[in-house]
Amino acid sequence: MCGIVGYIGHRDAYPIIVKGLQRLEYRGYDSAGIALYDGTDINLSKTKGKVEDLRSKSKSTISLKGSLGIGHTRWATHGVPNDVNSHPHYSNSGDLVIIHNGIIENYGSIKKALTERGYTFTSDTDTEVLVNLIEEVQKTEDVMLGQAVQIALNQVVGAYAIAVFDKKKPDEIVVAKLGSPLAIGIGENEFFIASDASPFIEFTNNAVYLKDEEMAIIRLGKEIKLRKIQNDAVAYPNILELQMNLEEIEKGGYDHFMLKEIYEQPRAILDTYRGRLLADQGLIKMVGIDQHLEKFLNANRIIIVACGTSWHAGLVAEYIFEDLARIPVEVEYASEFRYRNPVITDKDVLIAISQSGETADTLAAIKLAKEKGAFVFGVCNVVGSSIARETDAGAYTHAGPEIGVASTKAFTTQITVLTLLALKLAKEKGEFSESQFHEILTELETIPAKVEKALESNALIEIIADVYKDSPNCLYLGRGYNFPVALEGALKLKEISYIHAEGYPAAEMKHGPIALIDEHMPVIVIATKKGHYEKIVSNIQEIKSRKGKIIAIVTEGDEQVTQLADHVVEIPETSESLSPLVTTIPLQLLSYHIAVMRNCNVDQPRNLAKSVTVE
Ligand code: M6R
Repeated sequence: MCGIVGYIGHRDAYPIIVKGLQRLEYRGYDSAGIALYDGTDINLSKTKGKVEDLRSKSKSTISLKGSLGIGHTRWATHGVPNDVNSHPHYSNSGDLVIIHNGIIENYGSIKKALTERGYTFTSDTDTEVLVNLIEEVQKTEDVMLGQAVQIALNQVVGAYAIAVFDKKKPDEIVVAKLGSPLAIGIGENEFFIASDASPFIEFTNNAVYLKDEEMAIIRLGKEIKLRKIQNDAVAYPNILELQMNLEEIEKGGYDHFMLKEIYEQPRAILDTYRGRLLADQGLIKMVGIDQHLEKFLNANRIIIVACGTSWHAGLVAEYIFEDLARIPVEVEYASEFRYRNPVITDKDVLIAISQSGETADTLAAIKLAKEKGAFVFGVCNVVGSSIARETDAGAYTHAGPEIGVASTKAFTTQITVLTLLALKLAKEKGEFSESQFHEILTELETIPAKVEKALESNALIEIIADVYKDSPNCLYLGRGYNFPVALEGALKLKEISYIHAEGYPAAEMKHGPIALIDEHMPVIVIATKKGHYEKIVSNIQEIKSRKGKIIAIVTEGDEQVTQLADHVVEIPETSESLSPLVTTIPLQLLSYHIAVMRNCNVDQPRNLAKSVTVE
C-alpha cells in the first residue's frame, strides 16, 4: 500500500529515487520521504503530501549528495499522514534507516518490550518499531545488519517489503519481502530497489522479484544472493528480462493517466487477444489453460474471487461462463470469501482476478482455496506479481501498466481474457457449432474498432458531464450482462469525483431506489438493443414519469429510448455477451470529465491507493 525505492551504485541517488517515487505514487500519496548517505552521514527529509512536496522541501533542507539512498511514498495504515509518521524512519542511534510497505501486526508488544529497554519513539508507526528491533538485535547479538534483519523478521507477524541500510556499512542495502512486492533492478555495478520495475526501467531491463519470505543483502561489487528469512538456505536469483518500456508509463500527452488508459483500450484489448484468438483457424490458444483443460472441464463449478473493479469483471464473467459455456459460477468478494469458511473441494476451480496481482484479500482467498484442494487460476495484469506466482496457472491481461487509481483498461482486458477462456471451454464442451464459434470469434475481433468508435463520443460526454457535475447523487442502471457495468460506472464516479453513486439492476429499481427519483436525480441507463431492450424501455418510462433525468447509452440508430431520454450516447451494435467491453467506455469518460470539472485529483483520488496490499 506504499511505494518504496532504493538505489546503490555510482550515480546520484536523489533524482532516481524522487522520479521513481513519482512513478509509484499510485500506491499511496499521503506523505513521502527520502534518506541519502552523503559519504559521512545520512540526510533525511520527509513530509506530509505528495512527492512534489518532498522535492520542494528536500531541496532547501538537506544535502542531496550521495549514491546510496532510500525513499518512500505512503498510504497511511498506522498513524495519521503527517511529517513524523512519514518514512524513512531512523533507529534510536541514528545509524539505521528503513522504509517499509506493509503492516507489522504485533508491533504493539514489540514496542512495549523495546520501551522497557529504553528505546523511545517519535512516530506512531509500526515501522519505527521494526527498525529499532533490528538495532536491538544488532546490539545484543553482535551481528551484521543482514543477520539482524533476519532475526528481527523472525519475531514479527505481518506483511512487509523493507529496505534498510546502516551508515556504518554504507556499501549495502538489506531488503526483505513477505506479502508486499519488491523488485531489484540489476545494472552495471549498481542496484535499484522498488515496489515495481517502473522506477528503474530506463536504467536496466534485468530484474529479480523477491518471493515471499526471501531477503537479500545487496552489496556493491557483489552478485545478489537471496536467502530465506526463516533459515539460512540460499536461493539463486531468477533474473528476468523485463518487457516494459518507459513510454508505457508516461502520460504521452494526455492530461491524466486515467484518460490515457481509457484511450489505450482498443490497443489493450487487441494485445489481450493477440496470438490467442485465431478466428481464421477457429481456435483459441491459451498456454495457461491448455495444460489444465481437464481441471476446468471436470469442475463442479467455478468460483471467482476479486475486489473492486476486478470483482465487477468477475460478475460479467459469471454471465459469460454460464451463458456460453454452461458452467455454474459463483462470484465472491475476496474479503468476504476468505473469512466465511466457504465449502470448497478439489472439484472446484477458483479464478482470482486482480490488476495489480497484489491485493491482500485476493491473495488470502487464493491461499485458502489452495489449502482446500481447489485448482487456482489467476487473471492478472502485472507480470510476476504475487498472485501470478501464487496461482496454479493463469493468463495475463497484457494491458500494460495501469497507473491511474481508477481501473479502466484493466476492466476491459480482464473481461477479454475471461471471454476467451469461456469460449474455449464452451468449444471443448460442444456448446457451439463451428459456425457459431467462428461468428463470435470474428465479432470479438471487431471490439477494438467498436471501442474506438465509442471513444468518439468524448466531446458529447463532456457536455453531458457539465450538466450533471454538481449533482450530489447518481443512479446507474443496467440489466443482464450490463448490470455489472452499471456497478462499475457507479464505482468510477464515486471514487474519482466523490459524488455518491449507486449501480442497480434496472428491474430492482422498483423495489426501493425508485423512491430516490425526482427532477434532481440523473439516472444513467445502459439501454442497448441486444439484451432486454423492451424491459429497459419500461424502466426508463418509470424514471421519466417521476421526472428523473435520463442519460442513456444506446445502440447506433436507436429511436425508442432516444425519444424518452434527456441525453443519449450512441455506441456501435454489439452482441449482448460482448457489449460490456463497449458500454463501459462512455461511463468511464463521464466519470473522468465530471471529476476534472470538480477539480478532483483524477489519478490519485483521496484516501485510495492503486493496490490494496493490506486488509
Ligand atoms: O489490483 P486489483 O485488481 O486486485 O484491485 C482491486 C481493487 O482495489 C481495484 O479494482 C479498485 O476498486 C479500483 N480503484 C477501482 O477503480
